[in-house]
Amino acid sequence: MATVGTSSSDDAKSHAAGRTGRLFDGLSLPASADFHVHLRDGEMMAAVAPTIVRGGVDVVFVMPNLVPPITTVEHAFAYQQAIAKHTDAQTLMSLYLHPSITPDTIKQAKKSGVIFGVKSYPAGVTTNSASGVVNYEQFYPVFQAMEEEDLVLNLHGEAPPADDITVLNAEEAFLPTLFDLHKRFPRLRIVLEHCTTGAAVEAVAKCGPNVVATITPHHMFLIIDDVVGDPINFCKPVAKLPADRLALLKAATSGNPKYFLGTDSAPHLLGAKRGGLDMHQVGKCAAGVFTQPYATQLVLEAFEAAVAKGVVKQEQLNLTTLEGFLGDFGRKFYRVEPSGRRIKISAKGEQVVPSIQVGGSNANSSGQVIIPFRQNNPIYSLEWTS
Ligand code: NCD
Ligand code: ZN
Repeated sequence: MATVGTSSSDDAKSHAAGRTGRLFDGLSLPASADFHVHLRDGEMMAAVAPTIVRGGVDVVFVMPNLVPPITTVEHAFAYQQAIAKHTDAQTLMSLYLHPSITPDTIKQAKKSGVIFGVKSYPAGVTTNSASGVVNYEQFYPVFQAMEEEDLVLNLHGEAPPADDITVLNAEEAFLPTLFDLHKRFPRLRIVLEHCTTGAAVEAVAKCGPNVVATITPHHMFLIIDDVVGDPINFCKPVAKLPADRLALLKAATSGNPKYFLGTDSAPHLLGAKRGGLDMHQVGKCAAGVFTQPYATQLVLEAFEAAVAKGVVKQEQLNLTTLEGFLGDFGRKFYRVEPSGRRIKISAKGEQVVPSIQVGGSNANSSGQVIIPFRQNNPIYSLEWTS
């Protein structure tokens, strides 16, 4: 069995002598966990949910930004049942923070055993966020109930549109809100979702152990220049500067349990990426990068590229660090047991598929596909071994 960057020189040698010279070829790992996914509904869900396991993942935290958003336990439960028709993966459900949610909803949510978190979208910052938060103060009683019931608060950390806010500074401008909420509700478990800046990584490090962050694979590849002019790479928050990408890679490979995988895989039809089909959306590009079938593989590709560039040390990528980021740390934070299933990584010359069809063979229009992140690029292969 290949091992990676262990302190044992024998392991390192056997690895370096590997057939392909690829860092993770032959690596065996526990199933990964993905703590931020968008599975959508209808035909899109039918296309996307089956790809969870292809990414080596067996538990997902499912975002609630459907239209209309999921604001009741009943809706979340029905959504969970619908998803279960398309995947064996375990699903941890969430509610959409909305004025209709009360402390009583939180009590019911906890009791249901189905809901693990409540997602806050600032109004107007991303896909399906029109019903999002304008003012956090009105939700203090809800946050207090969440603290008491021990439900997680999932924050989309971008300041809402304003004169001096741009896609480049919106995350940093949100950090005072993170500190403020943490100070007011110190026992509330908070996830700052999809960190994209060095500032966000540092802010999370400064908070107590109840505040953690998810990091996406695509933000470990991209910088803002890769986004401008390429709708496939456009998501919120947008990828930032090279120094920010480096901070994410360092955090993800640090072995610090505050940072773990949440892909924010967010599929959109190519038609919506190209500029919208809806009259009111003409010319607007939908935000979201689709990575679900390659969740684990993309993380390993990003780590390997960072080692090749000399910005992350190979020794850093020991099994504890890899398994921590890919699943252990998140599972511990959300208090879910590992499944005991395992995956194996290999380098077989596979490439990311060019597209994924949505809606079966009748849907032949070229807009009816999802284009995955790093379409046609080389990617590790993954199989389930137990
Ligand atoms: C997400 C989506 O498409 O639902 N889009 C995105 O760019 N990440 C919403 C979100 O998480 O912001
Ligand atoms: Zn998301």
